[in-house]
Amino acid sequence: MGKHPAGTLLGVALPAGSGEPLHRQLYLAVKAAILDGRLRPGSRVPSTRSAAEELGLSRTTVLTAFEQLAAEGYLEARVGSGTRVARGLPADLRPHPAPGRRPEQRLAARISRRSRVDDVPNLSFLGRAARPLRPGGAEPSLFPTALCSRLAARHWRRIIRSPHNSDSLGYRPLRVAISEHVAKMRGVRCEPDQVLIVGGAQQALYLCAHVLADPGDAIWMEDPGYPRARWAFRSAGLRLVPVPIDGEGLVVSVGTKLCPSPRLAYVTPSFQCPLGVMLSLTRRFELLSLARHRRAWIIEDDYFSEYRAGSKAVASLQSLDQDDRVLYVGNFSKSIVPSLRIGYLVLPGVLVETFTRVRATLSRQPPGADQAILAEFISEGHLERHLRASQRLYRERQDALVDALRSEANGLLDASLAGTGMYLVAFLQNGRHDRAAARAAAIRGIDAIPLSSFAVKRVERAGLVLGYASYEPAVIRRSVEQLASALSAMTRTEG
Ligand SMILES: Cc1ncc(COP(=O)(O)O)c(C=O)c1O
Repeated sequence: MGKHPAGTLLGVALPAGSGEPLHRQLYLAVKAAILDGRLRPGSRVPSTRSAAEELGLSRTTVLTAFEQLAAEGYLEARVGSGTRVARGLPADLRPHPAPGRRPEQRLAARISRRSRVDDVPNLSFLGRAARPLRPGGAEPSLFPTALCSRLAARHWRRIIRSPHNSDSLGYRPLRVAISEHVAKMRGVRCEPDQVLIVGGAQQALYLCAHVLADPGDAIWMEDPGYPRARWAFRSAGLRLVPVPIDGEGLVVSVGTKLCPSPRLAYVTPSFQCPLGVMLSLTRRFELLSLARHRRAWIIEDDYFSEYRAGSKAVASLQSLDQDDRVLYVGNFSKSIVPSLRIGYLVLPGVLVETFTRVRATLSRQPPGADQAILAEFISEGHLERHLRASQRLYRERQDALVDALRSEANGLLDASLAGTGMYLVAFLQNGRHDRAAARAAAIRGIDAIPLSSFAVKRVERAGLVLGYASYEPAVIRRSVEQLASALSAMTRTEG
C-alpha cells in the first residue's frame, strides 16, 4: 500500500463485468461514496497517478472520471493542496426517511389534491404483450406500412427544411383533411378553424374537463362507461353523476332526476363504451334539449363511429346540434393505430380561442411530421380504403367470436350484439362474478376485461369484454374453448 492507498481512501471497488466504460464506473463509484458519506466534504482524494496505480487503471481513465466529478461540483482541485471532495457539500447527504408514516401517505401530503388520482390503476401491465381476446388492438397486417414509410420519408425531408410548427390549432392541411373527413363520414358541420389537433382523445377529454367546468361541478357519466374519461373528469375535480344505459343508450330521464342541471354530459352515442348500443334518435333530442335549456355542454366521444359506416351509419350528435353545445371528440387510435397519439376536437366557434390558449399552457401542437403524414393519408383517400378493409375483416371476426360463443360457451356466456366494432360484451350466466371470471380466464392465457371495471357505481349484469379485431378466427375459437372450460371449472368450485 502506498501513502494514499486509493482502494482504501476512495473506498471504491469497480463492479466486475458491468459493461460500462472504466472511467464511467469509477465516476459512479466515487460519486456514490460521496453521496453515502464514505467520502466526507473536504477530505483529500489521491492524485490521479496514485489512484491509477492503486486501482490498476490507466491515468487517463482516472483523469476523465475526476474531471467529470469536478465539472459536476463533487470534487475541487486547488493548486498546491491537491484534489478534495468539495467543501461546500452538506456533511450528510444520505436520505432521511421520515419516521412513522407509510411512503404513500408521505407522498399524498406533498402533491396537489388533483394529482391524487387513486382510481387510475397501475398501468405498467399495458407494457405486456396482448394475449388473446384482450380488446383494443387492430389487425396489424392491414396497416399500410410501406405506404406510410414512403409518406414519412417525404415529410421528414420537408420538415427538416421548413419546420412548420407555428399553428397553435394544429397543422392546417390536417385540419382541412379532418373537417372534410368528418363531414363526409359523420355529418359533422365545421370549418377547419374549429378543429383543434390534440394528443389523442385522452387529451381532448382532459382539456374539456379543465376548460368547461370547475372543481365540484357535475358531469353526467355513462355507467358503465369509458374508464379513462372518468379518470380525466375526476382529475379535474368534477362530481361524477352515473347515468345508466339501456337498449337505447344513455337514459336521459334518469340523469335528469339525479342531476337536472349538469355542467357537462359525456356520451359515446355511436357505439356506447363498452356496451355497444347506439343512442336512439329520441334520446339524442332529449340530450340536446337538456343542453339547450340548462346551458350544459355535451362531450360527444365518437371513438368507433367509422366502423359503423355503411348502411347502419347514424350521423353524429354534433350534426343535430342547433345551439353550439356539442364538442365532438375524434381519434385515430382505432382507425389507424393507438401509438400515433393524434386526436382532434371539433369545437363550437365560441370556444376555439379559449381552448387554444389553455392548450398552450399544456403543450404546443402535436409532432409536425406526424401531422403532415396523417394529413396526406386522409386527403389521398388511404384512410377510407383502410377503414373499408378493416370493416370487412372485423365483421368476419365478430361473426367468428359470436359463433364460437354460441357453440362452445352456450349456457355460460351470452354475447351482446352490437354493430361491428372491435370488441363485444359477453354476459355471464348463472350469477358468476366478472372479476373472478377474468382471473380464471387469465390463468388459461385469456385476457378478458371484467365489465364491472367500466362501472362508475354498479353494473346490472356481470360480463366480460372480449376483443376480436386482432385475432384470427382459429385463435378466437381456441380461446373461447379455454374460456368456457375456465368458467365451467368455476361453476364446479363455486357450486
Ligand atoms: C371510449 C373511447 N374513447 C376514445 C378512445 C381513444 O382514445 P385515445 O385517442 O386517447 O387513444 C378510446 C380507446 O380505447 C375509447 O375506448
